[in-house]
Amino acid sequence: MNNKAIAVVDSGVGGLVCLKAIRKALPGEDIIYFGDTANMPYGTKSQEEVCALADKFTSFLYAHGIKMIILACGTLSSTAIPFFYKNYPELLVQGVIDPVVSAAARQCDEDSNVGVIATPRSIESDAYAQSFERLRKHLNVFYRGCPELSVYIEKGITEGPEMEELLHGYLDEMVYEDKIESLVLGCTHYPLVSGCINKLYPQLKLIEPSEALAKNAKVLLTVHGMDSGKDDGGTLCIYASKKTDGFIKMADSLGFGDALFEEVTL
Ligand code: DGL
Repeated sequence: MNNKAIAVVDSGVGGLVCLKAIRKALPGEDIIYFGDTANMPYGTKSQEEVCALADKFTSFLYAHGIKMIILACGTLSSTAIPFFYKNYPELLVQGVIDPVVSAAARQCDEDSNVGVIATPRSIESDAYAQSFERLRKHLNVFYRGCPELSVYIEKGITEGPEMEELLHGYLDEMVYEDKIESLVLGCTHYPLVSGCINKLYPQLKLIEPSEALAKNAKVLLTVHGMDSGKDDGGTLCIYASKKTDGFIKMADSLGFGDALFEEVTL
């Protein structure tokens, strides 16, 4: 058993959706959420830049005495896991890619056509393709990096003509030419536009990362005997490197309005 906190991190609001699922799966754990809103987007940055940002926020979180870091961000998960293993060997690290790819394997039929949308950094890293290759199931997978999608979502634009036009630009080819039947939302911001994707392409099965991530994190914590041993009463602190309107509104609408919320300069 271990009473230290768990850190949940993302570049901004995307990880808040995962946070909801994580709090539900681990109600007895103290959680510190960090959204790097001042440096968002991560998805168009280089590997070096992403790791340098990860180093900054992890030193800050580490000072709070954490036992685990949950990367509620496809970009960090595809890019920085070796960095965490090397520099913070005592931390448990849970990324989002294998959990969401396993969820796709469970939910998609053998030989079906599956699309993956994620940030350009995540797609270029090849982490999704490698994770699909490790599956014992054959799926025809099509990939698309979406440079602007998370930025619009971070600003609070999750529906309406502007978002619909953006989605058509990213998804029409996959849907109408590649004939995908399912779509993996490979960036944690994207479930916030699943309503809009459903409206444009009602036939698509959407595969979202949060529940699979929360489930895997719980297993990792338990297997290492590092859970708090409590069934409820876990606390929540939310930090952001910039208190943006988009972040405050999203935290509120996801039910985190009462959490302790601070801006932190790293
Ligand atoms: N939420 C993030 C992800 O899952 C990052 C979005 C961004 O900062 O570009 O990739």
